Amino acid sequence: MKTFVYADYDQLSRAAATLVTDTVRSNPHALLCIATGDTPAGMMNYLTEDVRSGVVDFSKVSFVSLDEWVGLNQQDEGSCRHFFYQHLVYPLNLNAEQVAFFDGRADDAEHECARIDQYITGKGGIELMIVGIGMNGHIGMNEPGLAVANSSHIVNLDEVTITVGQKYFREKTPLRRGITLGIGQILESKKAILMASGRKKAEIVARAATGPVTTQVPASFLQQHHDAYMLLDADAASSLDYTIA
Ligand code: F6R
Repeated sequence: MKTFVYADYDQLSRAAATLVTDTVRSNPHALLCIATGDTPAGMMNYLTEDVRSGVVDFSKVSFVSLDEWVGLNQQDEGSCRHFFYQHLVYPLNLNAEQVAFFDGRADDAEHECARIDQYITGKGGIELMIVGIGMNGHIGMNEPGLAVANSSHIVNLDEVTITVGQKYFREKTPLRRGITLGIGQILESKKAILMASGRKKAEIVARAATGPVTTQVPASFLQQHHDAYMLLDADAASSLDYTIA
């Protein structure tokens, strides 16, 4: 896994957006999978700027979701889908057909997992995957200590995820389970980028980048990806040896 460190969050966001636009320019039909949350928000703003200024055309791209809180859907502020629509689908004017997102309110969660897995297979796999990293080392909602999954699945959320996840909600929200792509699917993507920002992520980033590959730090499995990159701001890289890109 190669690591690139940028001076600050803005430069990190710009660099990640450029990677996405380069991917789409070389494959306009690419299937992309992009995490939601604080970390990719700046990148999403740059993607919107790039589309509006004509640098890139997203009209043929498809998106698949990475994860969702079980019990929540687009109408729920704080859901992954709500975030994704507010930050990408509406600003980029994407069609509903371009986006396949987990329905966290689906009656049949197993069927929902199968639907998303089939969507990915039908599109020939994920071209570019952009993940964040949780304070506990999760990627998607692949939580510490769980067996590596090769398909979409339901997980019981880790206490850290439940506590930290409150930041996405105005009011205290009970979070218990998540629906997520498996680590195996993340490893199968053609290219994977992990983005991290802020000093609070420095320790877990260092464990993911240079520690042993272990289910205790799910993001460490990216070390086994054939084309994976860590894009960090200087604060997130502060427990690593680095030079600014
Ligand atoms: C969200 C997701 C999560 C986040 C992670 C970091 O779709 O997949 O794994 O990427 O929890 O969240 P932020 O960026 O809010 O610190």
